[in-house]
Order: sequence, then C-alpha cells, then structure tokens
Amino acid sequence: MPISKSKTSRRPPEEIDGTLWLASDGRTVCILDQTRLPHETVVRRLTTLEQTAEAIVTMRVRGAPLIGVSAAFGVALAMRVSATDAALDRAFRTLMNTRPTAVNLRWALETMRAHLAPLPPAERAAAAYAEAIRMRAEDITTNRRIGEHGLDLIKAAWERKGRSGPVQVLTHCNAGRLGTLGWGTATAPMYLAKEAGIPIHVWVSETRPRNQGAALTAWELGEKGIPLTVVVDNESGHLLQRGMVDLVLVGADRVTARGDAANKIGTYLKAVAARAHQVPFYVVFPGTTIDWTLQDGVKEIPIEERGPKEVTHVVGAGTGGRLGEVRVTPPSVAARNDAFDVTPARWITGLVTERGVCRANATALKRLYR
Ligand code: MRU
Repeated sequence: MPISKSKTSRRPPEEIDGTLWLASDGRTVCILDQTRLPHETVVRRLTTLEQTAEAIVTMRVRGAPLIGVSAAFGVALAMRVSATDAALDRAFRTLMNTRPTAVNLRWALETMRAHLAPLPPAERAAAAYAEAIRMRAEDITTNRRIGEHGLDLIKAAWERKGRSGPVQVLTHCNAGRLGTLGWGTATAPMYLAKEAGIPIHVWVSETRPRNQGAALTAWELGEKGIPLTVVVDNESGHLLQRGMVDLVLVGADRVTARGDAANKIGTYLKAVAARAHQVPFYVVFPGTTIDWTLQDGVKEIPIEERGPKEVTHVVGAGTGGRLGEVRVTPPSVAARNDAFDVTPARWITGLVTERGVCRANATALKRLYR
C-alpha cells in the first residue's frame, strides 16, 4: 500500500473535537494522532484515501469503532477525487486491507458501498460525507447508551460491597473515548458513574506492547478526574486473587454470534483469572462489533500479527520530553506480536451493548438485536 504523509500541526488551527472531525472547509478530515499521546497533542489533516489508510495501519487512529468511522471518511476522501465504480472498489479494498481484526471496519465499508453504489457517480462524494458524518454521530449516541447500561453494573457492584469504598474496576487496553467517537465503550460507564457520584477507582493494565492502557486510558481517565492506577499486565491475576477488583470491563474488536470476543492481547488471561476468583467479567461493545457470520471465535476470527519491533522496542518520552524508542531485547531476537486474543463466551459473565446487557450466548445476543 502506498504510504503518503498527512500534514501535522502541533498547534491545531481549529478546535479539537474528539478523536476525528471534519475541518471547517467541510472536506479535510482531522484526527488526533494517538501515536503521540499522551506526550504531545498533534492533529493530522487527512486529505486522501492513502493518508487515511496509513493512519489506520500505523494506529494514529485505533480502536474498533474509530477504525470503522475513519474508513468511512476515507471513502468520502476517495470519492472527491474519483467516484467511478472502480474508484469505489479501490477505496473499499485499500481500507479493508489495513487492519484485519476489528469487524467495524468491514461494517463501515459495506455500509458505505451499499449506500453509494446505487447512486450516479456525480452524487457519490456528497453522499459519502453525509453517511460518514451520520456514522460518527451515531457512534456518539451508541456510546452513551452503552454507558447507561454499563452504569447499572457499577451500581450493582457498589451495592454488593455495601457502598463501602470505591468500586474497583479493572480494564485493559483503551476501550475509551480515544477508541471511539464519543464516550468510549468500556469507559463510558466509568464516566457516567463519576457523573452519578458513585466512587470508582480504575486499575489500568498497561497493555504491552503498544501500551494503550498506560498511555491512552490513563491519559483520558486522568483528564476527566477519574482515580486510576496503572499496573503492569502481569499484575491482574494478583489483584483479582487479593479481592482488589470488583468488576472487569473490557472492549472488543469482534464478537461472534455466540458471544466469543476478540480484544487486545491479554484479555483472555484476565477473563480466566476473573472466573477463578468469581469476579464479574463483562465485554462492552456496540452492535457494529458483532460479526453475525462467525460462531467459533478462536477458530474463525482473524488475528492481526503486527511487526516484531513493537515487542523488542518501547516508545516513550525521554529526558526533556522528547519522544523516542528504546530497545528492550538483545539485538535481532525473534519476537511474536499477535495483537489480539479471543475470549470464548464461557469465560464471559455478560455482554454490554447499546441494546442492554445479556449473557454471552447465541440466543441472548440474538434476542437483543432481533
Ligand atoms: O490495536 P487497538 O489499539 O486498535 O486495539 C483496541 C482494542 O482492543 C479495544 O479494546 C477495542 O477496539 C475497543 S475500542 C472502544
């Protein structure tokens, strides 16, 4: 895939509006570059299909819902240049090839294609922008509904502990506002708990190799004044064993029709440890993350394998705050980097969606989305 560089600005000319927004020219797509957070606030301006694909591949935008909506805007950018059937097809294929696990990408691209293909080419660019803008708005509403349903779980955990002390929530990766267009998925109930005056404290697991927990979740929860503690990924079992976690809330990148859930590598281990210690483990996601065509997640969900450098090196701010990377392994060592794992439904206490909370099984999920 051709990589083309998008324009950056450290002092954004326009106000930052979430994770992705349309510039005042009505055409350029602005994104908050997540590879630079929490150290630098950098806005990138995307004007082409290739820049959008590059932003997804390099994880400047990331998180299942945000990947989907970014791709929708990528189609809109492509349609401005050429809106023939061939151009639509090329945009679809280029973006589909960016990241394989989050099914929101396929959902967004199929929705765009179904919407645009019947239209005359002259109408496609405007229609593509309108549809992408609609998806963005819908994700914000969906996040809010997810948050309301998830809040009930936090309230229940608070009652279970006799309202003594904050509800201790464990989360992994960033299923937060940075991975979506609005409130986040797993974090939406946390924000609403704060609004409702329910005390919470969040254990944020760092999420090696890319540290989405340590860098992104810690940043966004901290920004909103939610008490948190970052722990290394390997600490989760210890916390669960000591009774220091009341509830586990994680996001998802693809959930099968029977409720198996793919999420950031390390999620599965947390689910198993949570069950061993009878701590409720919930997977939180919108309907656009469900892949109704799959059943057995372990066998059927494609798992993205990323480059070994993300394992052998870590990125962070050095002395003087300058961003850089350091190697943590001997040179030329072999490293494997599966970006996601699958938690089979039997390890999941329940699924939290914009339609409500249900058990992780085919009948319950289908009833919710009937
Ligand atoms: O590789 P990433 O950072 O895109 O992975 C993100 C996750 O695994 C999130 O938990 C998931 O996409 C939910 S985002 C609301």
